[in-house]
Amino acid sequence: MTDSKNTNAETSPQETPSVHDKTIINKMRTLIAALKTHNNAYYVLDNPILEDSEYDQLRLSLIKIEEQYPDLVQPDSPINTVGDIPLSAFTQVTHDIPMLSLGNVFEYDDLRDFMRRVNDRLSDAQKNPEYEVELKLDGLAVSLKYQHGKFIQAVTRGDGQTGEDITQNTKTIRNLPLYLIDAADIELLEVRGEVLMPKAGFERLNRLAEEKEEKTFANPRNAAAGSLRQLDPAVAASRPLAFYAYSVNQGLPERIDTQSDALAWLGDIGFSVSAVRVVKNPRETQEYYESVIEKRAKLPFEIDGTVIKVNNLALQQQLGYLSREPRWATAYKFPAETVMTRLHSIEWQVGRTGAITPVGKLEPVKVGGVTVSNVTLHNFGEIQRLDVRAGDMVSVHRAGDVIPKISRVWHDQRPADSQPAVLPENCPVCDSPVILPEDEALARCTGGLFCPAQQQEALIHFVSRRAMDIDGLGERWLISFFEQGLVKTVADIYQLHNHQEQMITFEKMGEKSVQNIIKAIEASKHTTLSRFIYALGIRGVGEGTAQNFTQQFGDLERLMTADIETLIQTPDVGTITAELAYEFFRAPHNIEVINALLAAGVYWDKVEKKSSSHLPLDGQTWVITGALSSMARDEAKAKLQALGAKVSGSISAKTTALLAGEKAGSKMAKAEKLGVKVVGEDEFLGMVGE
Ligand code: IVH
Repeated sequence: MTDSKNTNAETSPQETPSVHDKTIINKMRTLIAALKTHNNAYYVLDNPILEDSEYDQLRLSLIKIEEQYPDLVQPDSPINTVGDIPLSAFTQVTHDIPMLSLGNVFEYDDLRDFMRRVNDRLSDAQKNPEYEVELKLDGLAVSLKYQHGKFIQAVTRGDGQTGEDITQNTKTIRNLPLYLIDAADIELLEVRGEVLMPKAGFERLNRLAEEKEEKTFANPRNAAAGSLRQLDPAVAASRPLAFYAYSVNQGLPERIDTQSDALAWLGDIGFSVSAVRVVKNPRETQEYYESVIEKRAKLPFEIDGTVIKVNNLALQQQLGYLSREPRWATAYKFPAETVMTRLHSIEWQVGRTGAITPVGKLEPVKVGGVTVSNVTLHNFGEIQRLDVRAGDMVSVHRAGDVIPKISRVWHDQRPADSQPAVLPENCPVCDSPVILPEDEALARCTGGLFCPAQQQEALIHFVSRRAMDIDGLGERWLISFFEQGLVKTVADIYQLHNHQEQMITFEKMGEKSVQNIIKAIEASKHTTLSRFIYALGIRGVGEGTAQNFTQQFGDLERLMTADIETLIQTPDVGTITAELAYEFFRAPHNIEVINALLAAGVYWDKVEKKSSSHLPLDGQTWVITGALSSMARDEAKAKLQALGAKVSGSISAKTTALLAGEKAGSKMAKAEKLGVKVVGEDEFLGMVGE
C-alpha cells in the first residue's frame, strides 16, 4: 500500500498523510484485508471463518471509520461493492437494474431515525407513510426473468452489477414456477427474491454428508449457495432449495401501486412469498418485529431480521437511493449472538464455596440484545484451553438466555506485550493461600471460615440440621444478620445474645422470635465431635469423613495438629481430602474461629473410640444405587461408614453388598451379574436399627 491510495488527495490539507491519518489508514487497511479474506472464504470457498454477525461487525467498523474520514476512504474498500466474487464457471450476466443492498438498523431508536429520515424527504401531506414489513430471509438474492409468463433466466446477485447465470440449477427448485398463471401478456417480468434451504432439508443434507464422511455445511445459507453453484444440475436437483419472491423489478401491472399488493399479486401468479405485515408507525413495526423474534425458532427457514419498506411504490421512487442502498427500505436485524470485543483483564473471584474462578472483563458489547461486560472463564484450565490473555480480541457468544461465553480467541490480533494469565497465589478477598488440588480443575481459597467470600455459605452449612442443628435460626434470618454485619464468622452466632435489641429491629422479628433463636443457639452448644468437624465445612469432609476423623483421632486437638501422612491413615480419606483438611487447620483465621467457638461454650462428650474390629461392617465395601425413600444417599453413606463399611461408587467383584433403592439401573444388573448381594432399603433400615 502507498500513501497515494488516499483517494481524495486534493481535499486533504497535507501532501503526505499526517501521523494521525496514517494511523486511520492503517486501521482501514487492516479491516479491508480482513474483509477480503472473509469474503473469499464465504463466497468463493464456501467455508466461512466468521459468524455472519462477526462479519457485519467488521464491516460496520470500517463503515464507521469511512464515515468519519471520508477523505481517507481506500479505493479498494469492499464497503461499496456488495456481495460476492463471481465464479468463472458460470456465464456472467449484467443486471438490467443493479441488485442493491439494504441498510441496517439494530434497535428501536435506529428504526425511528430511519423513519425520521424518510419523513425529512417527504412533503407534509406525504409524511408518516405506511410501511410494509417482510421477513429478512437468510439465503441468496436471485433475479428471475419470465417472458410471456415462461421462466427464461436466473442470475445471482454477484457484485450487484454482474452476476452468474444459474438458470439450469434454479429450474430444479421445486416451488419455483416455470410457467406463471395469467401472465402471458407480460412481455418481460423480472422478479427478485431469495433462494434458501429450509432448516429440515439442511439437516437432512448434512446428516447424509456425515454418513458418507463428506464435508458438511456450516449453515443453511452456505448450503444454498453451494447448491446453486453446483456445476452439475443433477446434484443441484437433489438439494432441497426453495425460492421466496420479494420484489417485482420489471413488468409490474400498472394498477398495482403498493409493495404489499405486489407481493399478493406474486402469490396469485404462482410464487411463494413470505409473511407480510402493513404497519403505520415505529411502534407497530417494533411490535411486529418482536412477534417475529418469538416465532423465529418455529419458522421452517432461517431469517436474520425483518425488512421494512415504504409501502407506496411511487413514494419509493421519489425517495430513491443513497449510494448502494434504497432510502425507502432498511433491514431491522436481530441482535447479533456472536460479537467481537476486547478482553481487558482477567480477574479472580471467590465463590461461596471457596472456588477461585477467573472472570473476563470485556469492553462492553451488545450480544443478543443485552450488554455484556463480564464473561465467565470457568477455571484456570479453561484459560489454558482457550489460550486467552488480557488484551486479546475475543468472540463472545450468547444464544438465547445462556450465559455469555468466549467462543473464540483471535490470536493473530494479540498485542505484542500481552502476558499469559497466572493463577493468584493468594485469595483476592482474604489473602489466604490458594491451592489447586491435584486432578481438580478448580483452585480454592484455603481461608475457609475466615474468607468473607465464603462466610455466607459457611454460616448456612454450620447451622444446618446435620451440622450444629440450630433449628429456629433459619437461613433467611442468618443471611439478614450477615448482611447487617451482626455475624461474620460462625463464631459470631454464639455472640448474638449480645445483640438482641438490634435483632428486634429487623422486620417481622418479634421479641418471641429473638428468644427462640437465642434458645436454639444455646441448645446447639452441646454437640458431638463429628458434628462439629462436619460443621466446620472443610472441603471434602462430609459427614462420613467427619465420623471417620472422630474415630481416628478421638479429639479435636490431635486432628488439628495431624500431618498429611497421618490424616491419610483415616479410612476413606485420600490425598485431596487430607491436603484440604491439613491446609484448613493451618490457616490462622480458622484456628481463631475454632478457638472462639470453644470459648463461647461449644462442647461435646468424650469420644468413645469404637475399636474398628468391633464394627459390624468392618472390612466390607458397599455401593449405593437408586433413590432411597427414607433418607438421602449421603445419610445412608454416613450410616454405613459409621458401621465400619467402606462406600464405593462402582461395583466390582470385591463389593460386599449393593444397597438398592427405587429405580436401580445398571448397577443392579451388574451386581446380579457378579453375584453381589443386593440389600433393599427396608432390610438396610433394620440392619442399622431404624
Ligand atoms: S429487498 C434494494 N426483501 O437482504 C433492496 N431483501 O441485505 C432489495 N433479503 O440482497 C432487497 N429478505 O438478499 C429484500 N424480504 C426481503 C429480503 C431481502 C432477504 C436479502 C436480499 C438482499 C439483502 C440485503
